[in-house]
Amino acid sequence: MKRAIQLKKLEDEIRKCSNCDLCMACTNPVPGYGNYFAKVVFIGEAPGKEEDLQGLPFVGASGKFLDKLLESINLDREDIYITNLVKCRPPNNRDPNQNEIDQCFKFLKRQIDLICPMLIVTLGRFSMNAFLPEIKISQAHGQVFKVEGLFEKTEFIMPMYHPASALYNPKLRSVLTEDFVKLGELLIKLKK
Ligand code: URA
Repeated sequence: MKRAIQLKKLEDEIRKCSNCDLCMACTNPVPGYGNYFAKVVFIGEAPGKEEDLQGLPFVGASGKFLDKLLESINLDREDIYITNLVKCRPPNNRDPNQNEIDQCFKFLKRQIDLICPMLIVTLGRFSMNAFLPEIKISQAHGQVFKVEGLFEKTEFIMPMYHPASALYNPKLRSVLTEDFVKLGELLIKLKK
């Protein structure tokens, strides 16, 4: 079956999922959005209020900042795929628990194995720790890690701070901006 059809079917499966209780409280599950042939997949934590209402990832305040960061390296949403570690909004934006993460990780793994990106960019510590447990985001952000054996083809992960954290902390805003410069340089190298 063609990749786009498989991914659309998977997104529908995610919309109908009832593997944990989060589906009962959310308005719309948020499977992901973007290019099924993307070289880079971005993974956030979980949908917030606006994402829950629209069923789309990163459409609220942190999404607006993410769009600016993408624009700064000449990427837009049609070039990448964006999803979250957990696809349904946790009530009051609480942290997702381990069971919720484990249930949703099965979907994330299938999404990554279908898209086969060269690189995963994790946004925030939750999505980073799902691939790189024990690592601190203050030490790992902006670096590329090789993760073997987790996905069929994808091996490289670049952790970044979550755009929402930069909305509250101006210092993290410049860190995130610099890390995006590194990402842009890396993507140029990978294309050569
Ligand atoms: N924060 C996230 O982690 N994901 C979204 O989709 C929106 C905000």
